[in-house]
Amino acid sequence: MKSKEEFFGFEDHEYNPIVRSESIKLLSSLIEKHKPKQILEIGTYIGYSASVMLASFSGSFVTTIEKNKENAECAVKNLKELGFEGRFEVVNADASDFLIENQNKKFDFIFLDGPKGQYVRYLPYLKNMLNEGGVLVADDILFYGLVRSQQKIEHKHRSLVNNLRKFLEVLQNDKDLETVIYDFENGMSVSVKKM
Ligand SMILES: C[S@@+](CC[C@H](N)C(=O)[O-])C[C@H]1O[C@@H](n2cnc3c(N)ncnc32)[C@H](O)[C@@H]1O
Repeated sequence: MKSKEEFFGFEDHEYNPIVRSESIKLLSSLIEKHKPKQILEIGTYIGYSASVMLASFSGSFVTTIEKNKENAECAVKNLKELGFEGRFEVVNADASDFLIENQNKKFDFIFLDGPKGQYVRYLPYLKNMLNEGGVLVADDILFYGLVRSQQKIEHKHRSLVNNLRKFLEVLQNDKDLETVIYDFENGMSVSVKKM
C-alpha cells in the first residue's frame, strides 16, 4: 500500500484533509469485516481513502464524489497507478447534485468525508441509499473537539459546529440506525442500518 505522502498531488501541510491514521485503520477494518460490494464516498480529495477501501476488499467498487476538478483528476491518476482501474468511478460533481440525481441507487457502505456543514442535509439521502445491514461512516464529526465543547464557539466555526451537532443528534436518535461514536482524532461515527 502506498503511503499518503507518495500520492500524486499530496502536499504535506498542516491542513491536509486526508483521513488520519487511527481513523483510516477503523475504516479499513470495517471494510474487511463487512465486505461491501458497492461503496459510495463523498469527498475524494486525491483518492487516498478510496485506495484504502479498494485495497481492504478486492470485491468492492467505489463511487467517489469530488467537487474540485483538479482533485478529481489527481484521484483518477493515483487510483489507476495503484492498479484499481475498472473498480472505481470518480464523479466530478457537487455532492448535493449527485445525491438528488441518484436517489434510487443503493450502496452497501457509505463513507462521508465531504463538507462537514452539509452532513445533516445529506443524511436523509444517504440513509435511503444504504442497503439494510449497510454501514454509514462519517469522519471529522467532533471537529477538533468543538462539537462537544461547552465553550462559546468562534463565529467562523459556529454554523459548521451547529450543523455537526444537529447531524449527531439526528443520527443517534434514528431508530433505523445503530450508531457508535469514536472520539479519537477528529471523531468518527459508524452507523449500521438495521435489517
Ligand atoms: C476531507 S477531504 C476528503 C479526503 C479523502 N476522503 C481522503 O481521506 O483521502 C474533503 C473533500 O471534499 C471535497 N468537497 C468539498 N465540498 C464538496 C461538495 N459539496 N461536493 C463534493 N465534494 C466536496 C473537497 O474538495 C475535498 O477534496
